[in-house]
Amino acid sequence: MEDMHVADRGIELDDFARAVSEGLSREQKELPCRFLYDARGSDLFEDITVLDEYYPTRTEAAILEQCSPEIVADTPAGAMLVEFGSGSSVKTEILLAALDKLGVYVAIDVSQSALDDASARIGKRFPGSRIETLVADFAEPMQLPGREDASAILGFFPGSTIGNLTREEAVKLLRHFGQVLGSGARFVVGVDLKKDLSRLLPAYDDAKGVTAAFNKNILSRINRELGADFDVGAFDHEARWNDDKGRVEMHLVSRHSQTVHVRGEAFSFQSGESIHTENSHKYGVEEFQSLAQKAGWERSKVWTDRDVLFSVHELVYRG
Ligand SMILES: C[S@@+](CC[C@H](N)C(=O)[O-])C[C@H]1O[C@@H](n2cnc3c(N)ncnc32)[C@H](O)[C@@H]1O
Repeated sequence: MEDMHVADRGIELDDFARAVSEGLSREQKELPCRFLYDARGSDLFEDITVLDEYYPTRTEAAILEQCSPEIVADTPAGAMLVEFGSGSSVKTEILLAALDKLGVYVAIDVSQSALDDASARIGKRFPGSRIETLVADFAEPMQLPGREDASAILGFFPGSTIGNLTREEAVKLLRHFGQVLGSGARFVVGVDLKKDLSRLLPAYDDAKGVTAAFNKNILSRINRELGADFDVGAFDHEARWNDDKGRVEMHLVSRHSQTVHVRGEAFSFQSGESIHTENSHKYGVEEFQSLAQKAGWERSKVWTDRDVLFSVHELVYRG
C-alpha cells in the first residue's frame, strides 16, 4: 500500500506518526530531529552548510584535508569505511581521495534521497570503488554488509551529528557504534566546540532564513505525510542557547493560540508556546574525550582548527 511507508526515506509512516503524537503530547512539545531530514530537509541542510554564518562544515572540512594523510596512514588495503548519518558524503570524499585500495565504503542514513545522490556522485568520482548504502536509523542494531571480508574497520561520524544527542544519549550511541564496528576499530568523529554566543547563535539563525526554512519544513512534512493541518506561517523559528545543558536548541514558536490536528488528534498551542525540534550540544575537547572513554573508546588523536572552533577526534574501541 502506497501510504504504508514514507516513500522518500524508507522509514515506517507509523513510526513517524507515533513520534509526532508522543512528542506533541509532552509538556514541552518536541519532535525527534531525524524527521527534519526528508528530501527537502536534506537539500536545505546542504544549503545551510555553505552559509557564511555556518562555520562548522568548512572548518571541519579544512581540518580533514590536513589530517587525512595521518588518518589513512593506519588504514590497510581492503579496509571498510563505515559512515553514520552520511548525508551528502561530501567530507567522505576527502578521506576517499587519500585512502588507497579501500575495500568498501558503507554509507548509513535515514534519507534515501541523500544516499542515492551521494553514491551516484562518489561512484562517478571514484570509478570501481565499492559503495554500499543502508537506509537505517543508526541507533538501531545493524549488520554491516561484507564485514567478514574487511581487513580493518574505520568508522566516520562527521558533522557534529553527535551533538544532536544529550550527553547521556551520546555515551549510549558511541557504545552502540563500538559494538557495531567491533573491538580494535578506529573511529573519526567531528565535534563542534563551545564558543562565544555571538559566533554560535547565527550559525543556527542565519540572515537569509535558510535554517528557519529547514526547521519549519518538519511541519510541512507532517502536513504532507500525516495529513495534518499545521499553519506553517503561524510558527517562528528560534535558536536558543541553553547554558545548563551546554547546547543550542531549535524551536518553532507558535505566534498565537491555535489548535492543530494530526490524524484525528488535536494539539493546542498557547501563544509563545514552542515545539523543541533539535539540540546541538557543544563540547570542550577533553570533555568529549572523557565522554567517549565512558563508552569504551580510547582517545588516539585530536585535531582542531587554529581558532579552536571545531575538533576531529580519532578513537579506538576497547570496549
Ligand atoms: C548534521 S547532518 C551531517 C551530514 C554529514 N555527515 C556531514 O557531515 O555533512 C546529519 C545527517 O545524519 C542523518 N541522520 C540523522 N539522524 C539519523 C539517524 N538516527 N539515523 C541515520 N541517519 C541519521 C541525517 O539524515 C543527516 O544526513
